[in-house]
Amino acid sequence: MGKESRTLDGKTILVTGGAGFIGSNFIHFLLAKYPGIRIVNLDKLTYAGNLDNLSDVACDIRYEFIRGDIRDRELVRGILDHVQGVFHFAAETHVDRSILDAGEFVMTDVHGTYVLLEAVRQAPHVEFFLHVSTDEVYGSRDEGFFKETAPLNPSSPYSASKVGADRLAYAYHMTYGTPVMIVRPSNNYGPYQYPEKFIPLFITNALEDRPLPLYGKGANVRDWLHVEDNCRAIELVARRGALGQTYNIGANDERRNIEVARRIVKHLGKPRELIKFVPDRLGHDRRYAVDCRKIKALGWRCEVEFEDGLERTVHWYVQNESWWRKIKEKSAEYKAFYEAQYKDWK
Ligand code: NAD
Ligand code: DAU
Repeated sequence: MGKESRTLDGKTILVTGGAGFIGSNFIHFLLAKYPGIRIVNLDKLTYAGNLDNLSDVACDIRYEFIRGDIRDRELVRGILDHVQGVFHFAAETHVDRSILDAGEFVMTDVHGTYVLLEAVRQAPHVEFFLHVSTDEVYGSRDEGFFKETAPLNPSSPYSASKVGADRLAYAYHMTYGTPVMIVRPSNNYGPYQYPEKFIPLFITNALEDRPLPLYGKGANVRDWLHVEDNCRAIELVARRGALGQTYNIGANDERRNIEVARRIVKHLGKPRELIKFVPDRLGHDRRYAVDCRKIKALGWRCEVEFEDGLERTVHWYVQNESWWRKIKEKSAEYKAFYEAQYKDWK
């Protein structure tokens, strides 16, 4: 593990799902770090894809956007003719939506990954396919940490779909020698996160003086990883990771949801009474926790402290009100989803 050394400079790289939260942060990160890189961003622009996330780099000659579906075989094959590496972020990602309707999760996360892997298999010049999986593949545990070799026990349709993609990527490496690497990051937070996820939902609702719907008793635990730390980790794995290997990524700084909610209202100077306990998410995983020794052995360290990262994130949403207001106002789908979820207590 960690014997390889690749360079991204001078290469043409495909980023799938680059108009989403982590993908757009990752594109910013790569363009800032590598003057000689070229990036193709393939994104379908689902409700979660947003070109506003990349408006500052839209005219950069090193960057090209292609609107399209990862399940479009011909399109994907044509793009792969010109790239040397793939970072695969595109997915349906919101657990609550997967509980309401699992279909698109299976079709995008599993079948979409299959189409990409099949195209990479037929493109031997592609040096790596870095699959972005998730720490949710392990399921929940009350104490201790999951190593990369732990059994996978997903408990939501989202995480089960991610397991399908994760293991399919591994199988392509084992069966065909496809140059796959896999990362399993913990919960990310930071700028450009769609305001249906916990932290941006709570920040933006608080800014609007709307209730903050805390599931169950707010006792569930997540390991919050700033998106900048995640981008650095993913890029490091592309350079130094070993083909066929899987790497956990986590901050190892666990917080109960109630603590995070209280910190958000405190940063914004809003009353704690905005926090409302609502019926729990179905099958709600209590705690995620990953052992990160393997990626630390490659030289990665988490650099953003949660307190500092959360304060910066709150500040970003305060400063970028037009970004999230446009999403919340334009999206009838979002409103319908929100109202269906919370009709019992609104
Ligand atoms: P996101 O929902 O913000 O963005 C997903 C992007 O994928 C969107 O731009 C969307 O338009 C695009 N997309 C969806 N279906 C597509 C398709 N069929 N073809 C092309 N593009 C498509 O997601 P995110 O939070 O940025 O997550 C990115 C990846 O990281 C996902 O694979 C997710 O499972 C994984 N992940 C996320 C987190 C997290 O905390 N956000 C943590 C661990 C792993
Ligand atoms: O762990 C990585 C995963 O983190 C990613 O793979 C997923 O794509 C991403 O969505 C995220 O999943 P979670 O379910 O952990 O994230 P979410 O932001 O939806 O919820 C975080 C916690 O907050 C969880 O315990 C549920 C709770 N929550 C969430 C929402 C949206 C609430 O209490 N109220 C809410 O309204």
